[in-house]
Formats: sequence, C-alpha cells, structure tokens
Amino acid sequence: MLVTGGAGFIGANFVRRMVPRRPDIDVTVVDSLNYAASRANLAPVEDRIEFAHGSIADAGLADRLVKDADIVVNFAAESHNDHSLADPRPFLESNVIGIWNLLEAARKHRTRLHHVSTDEVFGELSLDDPGRFDEQARYNPSSPYSATKASADLLVRAWARSFGVEATISNCSNNYGPLQHVEKFIPRQITNILLGVKPKLYGTGRNVRDWIHVDDHNAAVEAIIDRGRAGETYLIGAECEAANLTIVQTLLTIMGKPGDWFDFVPDRPGHDLRYAIDPSKIRGELGWRPRYRNLEEGLEATVAWYSGHRAAWEGAKAAAERRYEAIGR
Ligand code: NAD
Ligand code: TYD
Repeated sequence: MLVTGGAGFIGANFVRRMVPRRPDIDVTVVDSLNYAASRANLAPVEDRIEFAHGSIADAGLADRLVKDADIVVNFAAESHNDHSLADPRPFLESNVIGIWNLLEAARKHRTRLHHVSTDEVFGELSLDDPGRFDEQARYNPSSPYSATKASADLLVRAWARSFGVEATISNCSNNYGPLQHVEKFIPRQITNILLGVKPKLYGTGRNVRDWIHVDDHNAAVEAIIDRGRAGETYLIGAECEAANLTIVQTLLTIMGKPGDWFDFVPDRPGHDLRYAIDPSKIRGELGWRPRYRNLEEGLEATVAWYSGHRAAWEGAKAAAERRYEAIGR
C-alpha cells in the first residue's frame, strides 16, 4: 500500500491505525514534508514502514512508487483554505498535478487508487437549509483549496470512466483529533487557551462545520478499501454539526475559562457558511458507524492530547500565528 501525505494529520493517523491492525500489508509512505508534515508523526511505526521523501507532483517518482504498489491511498494535499487564498500555486501543484500523476501511473500499472477528498467541493449550504450533502450533490467549490480538490475528484472520475482505473473517492467533513496542525480551527483555539491567548472567531462565529474524529474518518477509509465498490464515491460524516462559536464555548468550558473569553477577528473572504453530510450510503452499504458521536467527548480527548503533547505543536505555533497576524486574523 502506498500512502501519500502520510506524514500529515489524517495520513499519519491512518498509517498508525493500519500498521498494527494489518500486518499483512506492507506500507510505503511518500510525503514532501511541507510545513504541516512531521516525520515524528510516524515515529511509532517508523521501523515498520518504508518512507520516501518527495512530491507526487514529480511524475517520475509517482510512477516508480505506484508501480510497486497494489493500492494507492491519496491523502497528499495542500490543505488550508487561508493559505490557498494567499498563494494558490502549491495547491495546483500538489492537489491537481499530483493526482494527475498518480492517475496516469495507476492507469499504466493497473493499480487501484483511493482518493481522499473533502465535502468542501460542494460549496456551502445556508444556515437554515434542512438539506445535507449526499453523493448526488452538485460540485460548487468556493476557495482555491476546494476548487483544486474538486478538480482532483473530477480527474479521478474521468480516469475511472475513460481508462478503467479502479478508483474510489471519499468526501469527508471537517476532522479533528491528535496530530492536527495548530493552524486549523480546533487545535489553534486549544493551544491558544493553553498559552493564555483568547480564541479567535472569524466573522460572526455562526458558520457551521460537521465535525468528525480523525479515527472515525480513517475507519471509513479502511472500510472503503476493504469493501467499497470501484467507481463509487462515499460521503463520510458523523452527524455532528456545530457553529464555530459553540465549539469555542465548549472548549472554554472544558478548559475552565469563562464562556465569553474569545475575540472576533475579520472574516475569511468567501467563507463558506455551512457544511453538512448525509452519511446514509456508507452506513447502509459498508456498515460503517462513527465511534465518536458526542462532540464534547471527542473535544475533551483532543484537549487532553494537546495538553499532554506540547512538543508536537510548540515548534509550529509561533510561525502559524505570525502567518495569521500577517492577514489580520
Ligand atoms: P495536512 O496538511 O495535515 O497533511 C497533508 C500532507 O500531505 C502533509 O504531510 C504534506 O507534506 C503532504 N503533501 C502535500 N503536498 C504533497 C505532495 N505534492 N507530495 C507529497 N506529499 C505532499 O492535511 P490533512 O488534514 O491531513 O488532510 C489530508 C487529506 O484529507 C487532504 O487531501 C485533505 O484535502 C483531506 N481532507 C481533510 C479534511 C480535514 O478536515 N483536515 C477533511 C476532509 C478531507
Ligand atoms: P478550518 O479549520 O480552517 O477548516 P475549513 O476552512 O476547512 O472548514 O476552519 C474551520 C472553521 O473555523 C471555518 O468556519 C473557519 C473557522 N475559523 C475560525 O473561526 N477561527 C480560526 O482561527 C480558524 C483557523 C478558523
């Protein structure tokens, strides 16, 4: 199994899940080790995997690695909306050229591919819309990040249909849990509070995200690899919608701070209002169920992880906050 982006948040959790559970699988990780990655994320399984340092935007490297694999699981991507607004080029290179290279190699070597994507490809729902995204949702991305992820999904579909590449796609909602980079919403606020800094809410704080614990996302990816049907797309979500303000207030309660101890900061341009997933297909077809159904419980575990693993994030925190300061958020 070739796992791309395996030194990042979700990919590293996936590798750390699969290696002990699936001793029958030889895992190779390829990662370009960008600012969000860390080799230390793979330390617990380092002696049981192969690691290749490089970019999937390098066609020759992608071809060599895919040739030796039975299945590719593609987590590699530039993943932060705010950076995509400031500098979209790396997003096009990793998220579009990268998947194109993997698809061409998968086609040539007849390798199976699972592509990990996001619900952000569908754009936003209004706050009062009773509907949620399902597998028939229309592609309508808002940001350079989500536009490159949407492009990648469409390339995967085209290579599956036109060239018979054995591919599956999953579109998951917002993840949280151990190893997430401190620039992302939940770890940014937890680490702010730990350092005595107020949490920062974009705009009104009313934007809604549908949160899922990273272990539940990876259990779903494993189910698709094991039992998913080629050519199919599966939406993954744990039915845990919450406004950003609610998340901050829950963290403040867990961490013993007053409920109004936060700052509003200027909104993100083009900020999607709401994402929400209808997970009926993956529940019905593959029998997947999330373990973390109670967001407060998942957040408590995540606060405990960031409190107990300062070395994992302290080095990246100052640089992440400098980048936010530069854009006024
Ligand atoms: P992350 O930024 O923490 O990790 C991405 C990893 O990919 C990093 O280790 C990075 O070095 C690597 N990478 C980037 N470009 C690369 C390239 N060209 N070649 C090789 N490696 C490269 O992101 P994440 O949150 O772990 O997201 C992983 C995947 O899951 C992404 O495809 C993302 O779009 C998707 N996703 C994320 C979420 C979420 O909430 N975080 C939700 C749904 C889907
Ligand atoms: P983020 O983690 O960047 O994920 P995404 O943009 O992919 O949803 O942000 C999650 C939500 O939190 C989003 O509505 C933006 C908001 N947000 C804040 O309010 N404050 C912050 O400091 C950050 C980083 C995000």
